[in-house]
Amino acid sequence: MTERLEDIAVAMVARGKGILAADESTGTIKKRFDTIGLESTADNRRDYREMLFRTNEAMQDCISGVILFDETLRQSAADGTRLVDLITAAGAIPGIKVDKGAKPLPGFPGETVTEGLDGLNERLQEYHELGARFAKWRGVIAIGESTPTFGAIKANAHALARYAALCQANKIVPIVEPEVLMDGEPGTHSLERCEEVTTLVLNTVFDELADARVRLEGMILKPNMVIDGKNARNASVEAVAEATIRTLKRTVPSAVPGIAFLSGGQSDEEATAHLSAMNAGHDLPWNLTFSYGRALQAAAIKAWGGKKENVAAGQRAFSHRAKMNSLAACGDWRK
Ligand code: 13P
Repeated sequence: MTERLEDIAVAMVARGKGILAADESTGTIKKRFDTIGLESTADNRRDYREMLFRTNEAMQDCISGVILFDETLRQSAADGTRLVDLITAAGAIPGIKVDKGAKPLPGFPGETVTEGLDGLNERLQEYHELGARFAKWRGVIAIGESTPTFGAIKANAHALARYAALCQANKIVPIVEPEVLMDGEPGTHSLERCEEVTTLVLNTVFDELADARVRLEGMILKPNMVIDGKNARNASVEAVAEATIRTLKRTVPSAVPGIAFLSGGQSDEEATAHLSAMNAGHDLPWNLTFSYGRALQAAAIKAWGGKKENVAAGQRAFSHRAKMNSLAACGDWRK
């Protein structure tokens, strides 16, 4: 496998491929398992992720990389094969979530800053030894009556830039993820408000990346789409696609090789439709693809239900979503 940051970044957004975000923290995967009445044990988490990574067709044809949680990077499949080796055997690149979550930002009621910079250099060294070639850090920005504030945006952008520079120093491609939430509270904001906030966030993030001397050619941006709040949702697929492209063109330098969206609580089909609309008929300076968690996995978890006899059904569900999103990454998905 190549070690050049630029080559890894380009491979992560190869045409028709995208990223599987399987990096749910222990708390988040418990919430997902609760929906199928399954206890969140280390073995159950392993069995679930092993099912996904052994979905050969999807992994080989549609998935360029997989974001893992620390536990998964160290886990082995039931037959003793390391999960990381299952991923690389399918031709995909293993990645690792390195942030320690969004924590209350003192002095900024209702806002958060993502933690995890202390000791990050040493952790990245170990993650590289364990096989990770890219990483992820998520800053969270919520839209409310009087938020976000510029202070909170700047704190998150600064942390993202510090993280990205540390990754590159350790031969790891940073996924820079500033998420403007669609499903925050009250979640009633308009598409225009999301565009305004996302523009300010991305401008601030790229300012901080420049100040931190991050090589744009060796990173991937993972933004939200520009979309109205989850309790307002009525913007059309075309309106979301147009607003998102307009915002990205104004804020993201063309040196960035690729943009891989989060799904952020959109339905499976919405996430696919929006991505396809953005790729169809637009002349873009970067590859646009997916880095979905929920929108790639929700159907698979449901079909699997935590039962051995349903592994094939879970894999079929995952394969289907992966294929649909692969088509969308080429602008070729049709309802
Ligand atoms: P969703 O696609 O479920 O938003 O998750 C992607 C992700 O990695 C969030 O950090």
